[in-house]
Amino acid sequence: MILILIGPPGAGKGTQAKIVEDTFGVVQLSTGALLRTAISEGTEMGLKAKALVESGKLVPDDTIVGIVSDRIEDPDCANGFILDGFPRTVAQAEALADMLETKGLKLDHVVEISIDDDLLVDRLTGRFECASCGEGYNDKFKPTKAEGVCDKCGSTEFVRRADDTEEKIRTRLGVYHEQTKPILPYYKDRGILESVDGSKEMSDVTKQLKEVLSTAA
Ligand code: AP5
Repeated sequence: MILILIGPPGAGKGTQAKIVEDTFGVVQLSTGALLRTAISEGTEMGLKAKALVESGKLVPDDTIVGIVSDRIEDPDCANGFILDGFPRTVAQAEALADMLETKGLKLDHVVEISIDDDLLVDRLTGRFECASCGEGYNDKFKPTKAEGVCDKCGSTEFVRRADDTEEKIRTRLGVYHEQTKPILPYYKDRGILESVDGSKEMSDVTKQLKEVLSTAA
């Protein structure tokens, strides 16, 4: 299965992609996570992307298209993959269509996680993750069971993203509305766009998503 999840920052793309990964055995490809890894490893690409990512702006289309094209060749993508955060512009959507055609692959589902902006700042300023195993949490919506201790691995070290400040969240939302939303009509015109209500509780969003994914593309 090849799935695209589209939605504004904080819509729940990463949260739901992880669940789909575990349920359907397909790999989550988060372009944001790939960029953050390159930044923390100090690679040439990471150094170039750092200022853009940390200010909430998009990295150039050709950079990200190259990353995705290489990544989907990896053996763990053979069963399928979930694109979380890609494509983010119409040019990226067009490049993806060419890339899939060249590789003989078919896009099965494009799902928008729709949600109003006013719910997102709260979600993103509350987000943190375990520095050791990467398990995601939220101050308000998904706290750790024991305060300051990761439920999954017991670590007491946590990290927050540099772009999860209110000012940068507003920049990211502006970028989403201006540059990413136009890909919704792009997929709608091709008859492949589906939608779930991202304002519901996490488990409810998962239920809606599984229903969509259980239908034939
Ligand atoms: P990226 O990492 O993709 O960030 P984003 O799109 O801003 O999305 P987020 O990861 O912030 O949100 P999410 O929808 O995954 O929400 P989550 O599930 O974590 O990109 C970062 C940057 O990289 C970009 O700004 C750009 O610079 C660059 N980049 C990446 N891809 C690019 C591309 N293709 N082209 C160019 N540049 C690119 O949920 C958020 C929080 O809410 C969590 O704490 C979660 O626990 C909580 N939550 C989730 N669902 C619910 C719910 N239903 N109810 C209550 N709380 C919930």
